[in-house]
Amino acid sequence: MNFTKILKEFPVIETERIRLRQLKKEDADELLKYYSNENVYRYLDWNGPETSEKSYKVIDIWNKGYISGWIIRFAIADKLTDKIIGTIFLSEFEGKRAEIGYELSENYWRQGIMSEAIGRILSLGFERLGLTRIQAFVCEENIASKEILKKFNFKEEGYLRQFECHNVTGECKDMYVYGLINTEFKK
Ligand SMILES: CC(C)(COP(=O)(O)OP(=O)(O)OC[C@H]1O[C@@H](n2cnc3c(N)ncnc32)[C@H](O)[C@@H]1OP(=O)(O)O)[C@@H](O)C(=O)NCCC(=O)NCCS
Repeated sequence: MNFTKILKEFPVIETERIRLRQLKKEDADELLKYYSNENVYRYLDWNGPETSEKSYKVIDIWNKGYISGWIIRFAIADKLTDKIIGTIFLSEFEGKRAEIGYELSENYWRQGIMSEAIGRILSLGFERLGLTRIQAFVCEENIASKEILKKFNFKEEGYLRQFECHNVTGECKDMYVYGLINTEFKK
């Protein structure tokens, strides 16, 4: 996806409590901090950055991925302090399809924060990027992620055996695939 052509500038999206903006190198320590909690990465395919240096590096990779069209990954920042409390992204663009992913510091769970973020990113994907399908891959045990997707009208479409392998342990997990079509998106 040629983001720079379609969007011109990296979008800044504000909701009631959060600001979705491009990640910057100053976010590295906060990213490292909230990822140092196993509850945040338990169901992901990586354990997050393990050092400040790796955190800085991964932010750079994501920002370069925006230029190359692989990923648009936003910091979810507290609107008052601009401190990063999570990230949300669209990636793996193929035709008019993309994948959504997200994670939030555990200190902010169950307050409707990710719902605010997901709604805006789905709007961006369907309305500005012209996608017709957004999909997500979720493992069996990740109840919170399954529930939030259902809240946005994603449909469970299938069960993919040994679909996602962890980048450190190499363990491969079965995943459910969820899909949302542009005409079924309710803000
Ligand atoms: C998944 C995650 C992003 C949810 O963020 P959140 O801000 O807590 O979600 P919200 O408060 O917006 O919740 C929205 C809905 O999701 C569901 N939900 C969220 N957490 C839940 C939980 N622990 N158990 C059951 N349902 C849950 C509820 O239906 C909730 O609506 P309600 O509060 O009106 O009942 C968060 O738990 C997280 O960061 N998990 C770790 C990272 C991760 O697993 N990412 C997804 C990988 S596929």
